[in-house]
This record gives sequence, structure tokens and C-alpha cells, in this order.
Amino acid sequence: MRKNIVAGNWKMNLTRGSSLGLVDEILEKISKDKNTEIILSPPFLYLYKIAKMCRFNKNVKVAAQNCSKEVKGAFTGEISAEMIASCAADYVIIGHSERREYFLESNDDLAAKVNNTLAENLKVIFCCGESLKQRENEIHFDWIKQQLTQGLFHLDSTKISEIVIAYEPIWAIGTGVTASTEQAQEMHNFIRNIFYEKYGNEVGEKISILYGGSCKPTNAKELFSQKDIDGGLIGGASLNADDFLAIINSF
Ligand code: 13P
Repeated sequence: MRKNIVAGNWKMNLTRGSSLGLVDEILEKISKDKNTEIILSPPFLYLYKIAKMCRFNKNVKVAAQNCSKEVKGAFTGEISAEMIASCAADYVIIGHSERREYFLESNDDLAAKVNNTLAENLKVIFCCGESLKQRENEIHFDWIKQQLTQGLFHLDSTKISEIVIAYEPIWAIGTGVTASTEQAQEMHNFIRNIFYEKYGNEVGEKISILYGGSCKPTNAKELFSQKDIDGGLIGGASLNADDFLAIINSF
């Protein structure tokens, strides 16, 4: 059985005080008997503190939003995977479209980040997604296949099992426009088939594939009911405890 996961990507939002308040509220209200894994992804500065706060709930994990493609050294302002691991994190989000677009991260950069992260025994949430133009030009399937192939498919089948995929169509992120359930399921099924082809059925069956892009309490249940949608990577709605918990409770 693969894992259901709801991850909140806070991006560059919330001060220290409001972050800790949000975590307190989530931990207090969360139902303890859920099987869903919950991942909180705060800014680096609060990662250690939040990891410590979450350590008593085995279903709640923490993720960094990024890591350096370099291992260590003279790279002012960068944060390495080793540093993240030393702050009690569990995951690193790699390849978010905002990193690809605004910070010009290439698939090769992302492959290096994946390697650095796995070398520290951290897990990876690997993001992929197409622009509206690519979808309109009907190259979205090829594009996603290329992102996965170049970013991940150098890994062997043991290492690939440490990866969670997040499919986030760029045109749905922060826009209020969600991919339709059919569009999301179609792409998730396509992604799972690529994993079947490359790594075999057993591995492909176990990979959790999350949907991201304007996922909210009002649409989460329908999205999560799809065969190949194993949860969500939530932006805006993860900044409010009640909305985030309502999404978690959509399973
Ligand atoms: P929104 O949920 O705000 O659309 O953001 C999705 C996202 O980018 C999560 O990583």
C-alpha cells in the first residue's frame, strides 16, 4: 500500500511567531488516528524548532523547501542537504516550478540536489509540472517525462523509493484555477506508467504522487478520490490551520 500524504509548502510566508502558532494549532487539532502522513515545509530559519515541536507525532514530518546543489564550501547564502539533515528534517522539496522559473534551476541542478539529499538519508518531494502554453501545445506529457527522466532516472530502484512526486501544473499554482479531476488523474496515471516502465510494477505501485495547484478544502476530496492521486502539495491553503486540516481530513 502506498502512503497518503498531505504536505504544506509555506513558501516565503509567515514570521517565526506566526509559524510556531500555526504549528501549535495544527498539532492540537490534528486527529491522532489518521494514517495520512503530514509534512510541514517552513522556511529554513524555523525548520529545527518546528521539527522539534513535531517529533511527538509520528505522522507529522518536516521538509525544507530547497537545498543547494553544492555539497559544502564557499557558497554564501546557500544551505546544504547536510545542514538540513542536522536540523532534524525528513524531506527536501526539489524542483518546485518557482525554483525552476525564478532561480533558473535546470534538470541537471535538480539531479545534483536529489543526490545530495538522498546521501544525507533525507527523502525527496520532487516537483514537476507544465506551463499553460505547453499544455495548449500538447507537449505537456513529453515535458513531464523529460523532467522526471533528467531529474530522477539516474537513481536505482532502492533510491527511487525514497522519492515522492508532486505534479503541479504551473497554470494552477496560486491562480485559483485547479486542474480538473480528469486532467489531474490523467497526468498522475501517465506518471505512474512511466515509473512502471522504468522500474517495474512493484516500485511504480509504491510511489506516492501528490497533486499541487489551488488545492483547497472544497476540491481536495474529489481529487484525492482518484486512483493515482495520493495526496496534495498545498500552498496558500496550508497557511491556515483549519483549511489545511480540512484538506488532510479529505481522505
Ligand atoms: P497553491 O496551493 O497556493 O496553488 O500552491 C501550490 C504549490 O505551489 C505548492 O507547492
